[in-house]
Amino acid sequence: MGSSSNLAAAPREKQEGQLGYMARYYDVVVAFMTLGREKTLRRVTLDLIQLEPGDRVLEIGCGTGTLTLGAKVRVGASGEATGMDIAPEMVEAASRKAARKGVDASFQVGSIAKIPYPDSYFDAVMCSFMIFHMPDDVRRKGLAEVYRVLKSGGHLSILDFGLPDKPWLRRFVQMHFGHMMQHDVRELTPILEENSFSCVEVVKADFMGTWFLRGTAKKVYGPAVPQSTSLPRIVGQDTLSR
Ligand SMILES: C[S@@+](CC[C@H](N)C(=O)[O-])C[C@H]1O[C@@H](n2cnc3c(N)ncnc32)[C@H](O)[C@@H]1O
Repeated sequence: MGSSSNLAAAPREKQEGQLGYMARYYDVVVAFMTLGREKTLRRVTLDLIQLEPGDRVLEIGCGTGTLTLGAKVRVGASGEATGMDIAPEMVEAASRKAARKGVDASFQVGSIAKIPYPDSYFDAVMCSFMIFHMPDDVRRKGLAEVYRVLKSGGHLSILDFGLPDKPWLRRFVQMHFGHMMQHDVRELTPILEENSFSCVEVVKADFMGTWFLRGTAKKVYGPAVPQSTSLPRIVGQDTLSR
């Protein structure tokens, strides 16, 4: 069983975004917030990420590891799925869940700002509902780190909330729905491009205002970058109604 964590080695980094205090009841909160549709949301997230058997995939801010475990099933025995979170409590919960379910994924403590893997190691990196849990400077540093650990042609996929287009509704949401609803994930499109990601695409999930953002790490000296022709390109498509 490859479920593991490096809790002893990891520094307890105090940083905005640490959700360790929620680890014990996080899965219940997600079930409640998704109105029982979490399985659908996770399936569609993994469909969009387009993992292949044998891929190495990293989830950053993995929480209790549900998406990482689903990714391991997609990449199969020859692939590797790793979940990383800044909160040791989340990593412990995810490792316990992997052992309980008999899924050979691994989990470790770490921050997006300093990803403990060599250059060009992963085929895919995913961030689900985590990218706005940190200050801007950490996010920018983190996106550069993601680019570094991706292979040439590897993908970054980000799932998060958007904000309503109507200005008054946008202001209402920003005033009443806490720090998670101050940003729209689509704002990150130019920032991904600034961090050398190409083929940046946005796809509406039509699930409580969520969107997928996907970019490809095109590295100058790497192998040819595959074009993601099978990814839905139509913004506004209801991917969850399938
Ligand atoms: C809302 S949870 C999302 C969990 C999971 N990805 C999901 O889809 O359910 C956000 C997670 O990001 C983690 N996190 C926050 N800042 C981080 C950082 N700088 N590096 C890595 N993880 C971070 C938090 O500890 C938390 O577990």
